[in-house]
Amino acid sequence: MTFMQVANVKKVYTQRLGTKGTEALKDVNFSVDKGEFVAIMGESGSGKTTLLNILSTLDHATEGEVYLDGTPLSSIKDRSISRFRREQLGFVFQDFNLLDNFSLKDNILLPLVLARTNITEMEKRLTPLSETLGIAHLLDHYPYEVSGGQKQRAAVARALITKPKILLADEPTGALDSKSSQNLLEQFEAIHQSGQTILMVTHSAQAASYSSRVLFIRDGRVYHEIYRGDQTKSAYLEKITQALLVTSNRGESDES
Ligand SMILES: Nc1ncnc2c1ncn2[C@@H]1O[C@H](COP(=O)(O)OP(=O)(O)OP(=O)(O)O)[C@@H](O)[C@H]1O
Ligand SMILES: [Mg+2]
Repeated sequence: MTFMQVANVKKVYTQRLGTKGTEALKDVNFSVDKGEFVAIMGESGSGKTTLLNILSTLDHATEGEVYLDGTPLSSIKDRSISRFRREQLGFVFQDFNLLDNFSLKDNILLPLVLARTNITEMEKRLTPLSETLGIAHLLDHYPYEVSGGQKQRAAVARALITKPKILLADEPTGALDSKSSQNLLEQFEAIHQSGQTILMVTHSAQAASYSSRVLFIRDGRVYHEIYRGDQTKSAYLEKITQALLVTSNRGESDES
Protein backbone atom coordinates (compact mmCIF):
# COMPACT_ATOMS: atom_id res chain seq x y z
CA MET A 1 0.00 0.00 0.00
CA THR A 2 1.39 3.38 -0.99
CA PHE A 3 1.99 5.40 2.14
CA MET A 4 4.05 8.29 0.86
CA GLN A 5 3.86 9.42 -2.72
CA VAL A 6 6.17 11.94 -4.33
CA ALA A 7 4.64 13.11 -7.60
CA ASN A 8 6.47 15.26 -10.17
CA VAL A 9 8.35 17.21 -7.54
CA LYS A 10 10.43 20.05 -8.82
CA LYS A 11 12.46 22.52 -6.78
CA VAL A 12 14.05 25.69 -8.06
CA TYR A 13 16.01 27.83 -5.61
CA THR A 14 15.69 31.42 -6.69
CA GLN A 15 18.43 33.72 -5.56
CA ARG A 16 18.65 37.40 -6.27
CA LEU A 17 16.18 38.97 -8.62
CA GLY A 18 17.16 38.58 -12.23
CA THR A 19 19.58 35.67 -11.68
CA LYS A 20 18.70 32.25 -12.94
CA GLY A 21 17.73 29.92 -10.08
CA THR A 22 19.25 26.54 -9.25
CA GLU A 23 17.10 23.63 -10.38
CA ALA A 24 17.86 21.25 -7.52
CA LEU A 25 15.06 18.78 -8.34
CA LYS A 26 13.71 18.43 -11.87
CA ASP A 27 11.04 15.76 -11.71
CA VAL A 28 11.13 13.39 -8.77
CA ASN A 29 8.66 10.52 -8.64
CA PHE A 30 8.54 7.58 -6.25
CA SER A 31 6.38 6.08 -3.59
CA VAL A 32 7.04 4.39 -0.29
CA ASP A 33 4.92 1.62 1.16
CA LYS A 34 3.99 1.41 4.79
CA GLY A 35 6.75 -0.33 6.72
CA GLU A 36 9.41 0.08 4.03
CA PHE A 37 12.96 1.18 4.83
CA VAL A 38 14.11 3.23 1.86
CA ALA A 39 17.62 4.62 1.41
CA ILE A 40 18.29 7.55 -0.92
CA MET A 41 21.73 7.85 -2.48
CA GLY A 42 23.24 10.36 -4.85
CA GLU A 43 26.34 12.46 -5.25
CA SER A 44 26.93 15.64 -3.32
CA GLY A 45 24.65 18.34 -4.70
CA SER A 46 22.23 15.86 -6.29
CA GLY A 47 19.33 17.21 -4.23
CA LYS A 48 18.98 14.70 -1.39
CA THR A 49 18.67 17.24 1.42
CA THR A 50 16.41 19.39 -0.75
CA LEU A 51 14.13 16.39 -1.22
CA LEU A 52 14.15 15.53 2.47
CA ASN A 53 13.35 19.14 3.41
CA ILE A 54 10.31 19.00 1.12
CA LEU A 55 9.17 15.63 2.49
CA SER A 56 9.53 17.00 6.01
CA THR A 57 7.51 20.18 5.24
CA LEU A 58 10.50 22.39 6.07
CA ASP A 59 10.45 23.61 2.49
CA HIS A 60 7.92 23.73 -0.35
CA ALA A 61 8.20 22.10 -3.75
CA THR A 62 8.16 24.58 -6.64
CA GLU A 63 5.92 22.16 -8.53
CA GLY A 64 4.42 18.75 -7.84
CA GLU A 65 2.95 17.25 -4.70
CA VAL A 66 3.86 14.97 -1.80
CA TYR A 67 1.14 12.85 -0.19
CA LEU A 68 1.54 11.30 3.24
CA ASP A 69 -1.07 8.71 4.10
CA GLY A 70 -3.40 10.38 1.60
CA THR A 71 -2.86 13.97 2.78
CA PRO A 72 -1.29 16.36 0.23
CA LEU A 73 1.37 18.24 2.20
CA SER A 74 0.47 21.46 0.38
CA SER A 75 -3.03 21.29 1.89
CA ILE A 76 -1.74 21.67 5.45
CA LYS A 77 -2.34 25.21 6.67
CA ASP A 78 0.67 27.21 7.85
CA ARG A 79 -0.70 27.42 11.39
CA SER A 80 -0.97 23.61 11.67
CA ILE A 81 2.33 22.79 10.00
CA SER A 82 4.60 22.70 13.06
CA ARG A 83 2.11 20.51 14.86
CA PHE A 84 1.86 18.19 11.85
CA ARG A 85 5.64 17.99 11.66
CA ARG A 86 5.97 17.32 15.38
CA GLU A 87 3.25 14.70 15.59
CA GLN A 88 3.40 12.88 12.26
CA LEU A 89 7.08 13.00 11.30
CA GLY A 90 10.28 12.03 13.06
CA PHE A 91 13.67 13.51 12.12
CA VAL A 92 17.24 12.49 12.63
CA PHE A 93 20.04 14.77 11.43
CA GLN A 94 23.73 14.26 10.83
CA ASP A 95 24.73 16.48 13.75
CA PHE A 96 22.20 15.18 16.32
CA ASN A 97 20.53 18.56 17.04
CA LEU A 98 20.10 17.89 20.75
CA LEU A 99 19.64 20.77 23.19
CA ASP A 100 22.83 21.09 25.27
CA ASN A 101 21.09 22.30 28.44
CA PHE A 102 18.57 19.47 28.48
CA SER A 103 19.28 15.97 29.78
CA LEU A 104 18.85 13.14 27.26
CA LYS A 105 15.51 12.36 28.91
CA ASP A 106 14.25 15.93 28.52
CA ASN A 107 15.52 16.05 24.94
CA ILE A 108 13.66 12.86 24.11
CA LEU A 109 10.44 13.95 25.84
CA LEU A 110 10.42 17.45 24.35
CA PRO A 111 8.03 16.68 21.45
CA LEU A 112 5.57 15.15 23.92
CA VAL A 113 5.88 18.10 26.29
CA LEU A 114 5.08 20.41 23.37
CA ALA A 115 2.10 18.21 22.54
CA ARG A 116 0.94 18.45 26.21
CA THR A 117 1.06 14.69 26.70
CA ASN A 118 0.43 13.56 30.29
CA ILE A 119 3.38 12.38 32.33
CA THR A 120 2.20 8.76 32.71
CA GLU A 121 2.00 8.39 28.94
CA MET A 122 5.43 10.00 28.56
CA GLU A 123 7.05 7.53 30.94
CA LYS A 124 5.19 4.65 29.32
CA ARG A 125 6.74 5.49 25.96
CA LEU A 126 10.17 6.49 27.22
CA THR A 127 11.02 3.30 29.09
CA PRO A 128 10.77 0.70 26.29
CA LEU A 129 12.22 3.06 23.68
CA SER A 130 15.28 3.98 25.73
CA GLU A 131 15.81 0.30 26.55
CA THR A 132 15.59 -0.74 22.89
CA LEU A 133 18.09 1.95 21.97
CA GLY A 134 20.46 1.04 24.81
CA ILE A 135 20.42 4.46 26.48
CA ALA A 136 18.19 3.76 29.50
CA HIS A 137 21.18 4.18 31.85
CA LEU A 138 22.08 7.55 30.34
CA LEU A 139 18.79 9.40 30.56
CA ASP A 140 19.96 11.81 33.26
CA HIS A 141 23.15 12.65 31.39
CA TYR A 142 23.60 15.75 29.26
CA PRO A 143 24.58 15.53 25.59
CA TYR A 144 28.18 16.65 26.34
CA GLU A 145 28.53 13.73 28.76
CA VAL A 146 27.81 10.98 26.21
CA SER A 147 29.41 9.70 23.00
CA GLY A 148 28.36 10.65 19.47
CA GLY A 149 26.70 7.28 18.96
CA GLN A 150 24.76 7.66 22.21
CA LYS A 151 23.73 11.20 21.24
CA GLN A 152 22.43 9.92 17.95
CA ARG A 153 20.49 7.13 19.65
CA ALA A 154 18.90 9.75 21.91
CA ALA A 155 18.02 11.73 18.77
CA VAL A 156 16.41 8.60 17.31
CA ALA A 157 14.42 8.13 20.53
CA ARG A 158 13.28 11.76 20.32
CA ALA A 159 12.21 11.19 16.71
CA LEU A 160 10.26 8.03 17.56
CA ILE A 161 8.63 9.07 20.85
CA THR A 162 5.66 10.63 19.03
CA LYS A 163 5.10 7.40 17.05
CA PRO A 164 5.58 9.21 13.73
CA LYS A 165 4.17 7.96 10.45
CA ILE A 166 7.61 8.15 8.92
CA LEU A 167 11.15 8.52 10.25
CA LEU A 168 13.22 10.82 8.02
CA ALA A 169 16.99 10.75 8.44
CA ASP A 170 19.61 12.84 6.63
CA GLU A 171 23.05 11.19 6.84
CA PRO A 172 22.38 9.87 10.36
CA THR A 173 25.75 8.10 10.47
CA GLY A 174 27.67 10.98 8.87
CA ALA A 175 29.28 12.12 12.14
CA LEU A 176 29.82 8.65 13.63
CA ASP A 177 32.80 6.30 13.59
CA SER A 178 32.30 2.93 11.91
CA LYS A 179 31.43 1.01 15.06
CA SER A 180 28.82 3.55 16.21
CA SER A 181 27.48 3.72 12.65
CA GLN A 182 27.00 -0.02 12.54
CA ASN A 183 25.32 0.05 15.93
CA LEU A 184 22.94 2.82 14.83
CA LEU A 185 22.12 1.01 11.58
CA GLU A 186 21.33 -2.15 13.52
CA GLN A 187 18.91 -0.04 15.56
CA PHE A 188 17.33 1.26 12.36
CA GLU A 189 17.02 -2.31 11.12
CA ALA A 190 15.28 -3.36 14.35
CA ILE A 191 12.98 -0.31 14.24
CA HIS A 192 12.13 -1.19 10.64
CA GLN A 193 11.40 -4.79 11.61
CA SER A 194 8.99 -3.53 14.25
CA GLY A 195 7.00 -1.90 11.42
CA GLN A 196 8.30 1.68 11.31
CA THR A 197 8.49 3.33 7.88
CA ILE A 198 11.94 4.89 7.36
CA LEU A 199 13.48 7.11 4.69
CA MET A 200 17.21 7.64 5.05
CA VAL A 201 19.60 9.71 2.97
CA THR A 202 23.14 8.36 2.95
CA HIS A 203 26.45 8.54 1.09
CA SER A 204 27.44 5.14 2.37
CA ALA A 205 26.71 1.93 0.48
CA GLN A 206 27.28 0.09 3.75
CA ALA A 207 24.55 2.14 5.45
CA ALA A 208 22.22 1.72 2.47
CA SER A 209 22.60 -2.07 2.68
CA TYR A 210 20.49 -2.04 5.85
CA SER A 211 17.49 -0.75 3.89
CA SER A 212 14.89 -2.71 1.97
CA ARG A 213 15.26 -0.55 -1.17
CA VAL A 214 17.71 2.04 -2.48
CA LEU A 215 16.73 4.95 -4.71
CA PHE A 216 19.49 6.68 -6.64
CA ILE A 217 19.11 10.32 -7.60
CA ARG A 218 21.05 12.24 -10.21
CA ASP A 219 20.39 15.39 -12.22
CA GLY A 220 17.28 16.05 -10.14
CA ARG A 221 15.62 12.71 -10.90
CA VAL A 222 15.39 9.21 -9.50
CA TYR A 223 17.26 7.20 -12.14
CA HIS A 224 17.60 3.77 -10.58
CA GLU A 225 16.36 1.64 -7.72
CA ILE A 226 17.43 -1.66 -6.16
CA TYR A 227 15.29 -3.86 -3.95
CA ARG A 228 16.90 -6.06 -1.36
CA GLY A 229 14.28 -8.81 -1.67
CA ASP A 230 15.63 -12.14 -0.46
CA GLN A 231 19.28 -11.24 -1.01
CA THR A 232 21.78 -11.47 1.79
CA LYS A 233 23.04 -8.15 3.07
CA SER A 234 26.43 -8.71 1.44
CA ALA A 235 24.91 -9.53 -1.98
CA TYR A 236 22.73 -6.42 -1.67
CA LEU A 237 25.74 -4.30 -0.68
CA GLU A 238 27.59 -5.63 -3.72
CA LYS A 239 24.73 -4.55 -6.02
CA ILE A 240 24.60 -1.09 -4.46
CA THR A 241 28.35 -0.66 -4.81
CA GLN A 242 28.18 -1.79 -8.46
CA ALA A 243 25.41 0.70 -9.20
CA LEU A 244 27.48 3.53 -7.71
CA LEU A 245 30.52 2.47 -9.75
CA VAL A 246 28.56 2.41 -12.99
CA THR A 247 27.34 5.93 -12.22
CA SER A 248 30.77 7.37 -11.55
CA ASN A 249 32.25 5.59 -14.60
CA ARG A 250 29.46 6.95 -16.72
CA GLY A 251 30.43 10.46 -15.60
CA GLU A 252 34.04 9.90 -16.71
CA SER A 253 33.24 8.29 -20.05
CA ASP A 254 30.80 11.10 -20.88
CA GLU A 255 33.59 13.60 -20.55
CA SER A 256 36.10 11.71 -22.72
N1 LIG B 1 19.06 27.24 0.11
C1 LIG B 1 19.59 27.06 -1.09
N2 LIG B 1 19.66 28.08 -1.97
C2 LIG B 1 20.18 27.91 -3.20
N3 LIG B 1 20.64 26.75 -3.67
C3 LIG B 1 20.62 25.69 -2.85
C4 LIG B 1 20.09 25.79 -1.51
N4 LIG B 1 20.19 24.57 -0.92
C5 LIG B 1 20.76 23.76 -1.83
N5 LIG B 1 21.01 24.42 -3.00
C6 LIG B 1 21.57 23.84 -4.23
O1 LIG B 1 20.71 22.79 -4.64
C7 LIG B 1 21.46 21.66 -5.09
C8 LIG B 1 21.12 20.43 -4.25
O2 LIG B 1 21.57 20.63 -2.91
P1 LIG B 1 21.32 19.60 -1.74
O3 LIG B 1 21.77 20.23 -0.49
O4 LIG B 1 19.92 19.13 -1.79
O5 LIG B 1 22.28 18.40 -2.16
P2 LIG B 1 22.67 17.06 -1.40
O6 LIG B 1 22.39 15.93 -2.35
O7 LIG B 1 22.00 17.01 -0.08
O8 LIG B 1 24.24 17.20 -1.22
P3 LIG B 1 25.20 16.65 -0.03
O9 LIG B 1 25.39 15.18 -0.33
O10 LIG B 1 26.46 17.42 -0.23
O11 LIG B 1 24.54 16.90 1.28
C9 LIG B 1 22.92 22.08 -5.02
O12 LIG B 1 23.29 22.55 -6.29
C10 LIG B 1 22.92 23.20 -4.00
O13 LIG B 1 23.97 24.10 -4.25
MG1 LIG C 1 22.71 16.96 1.92
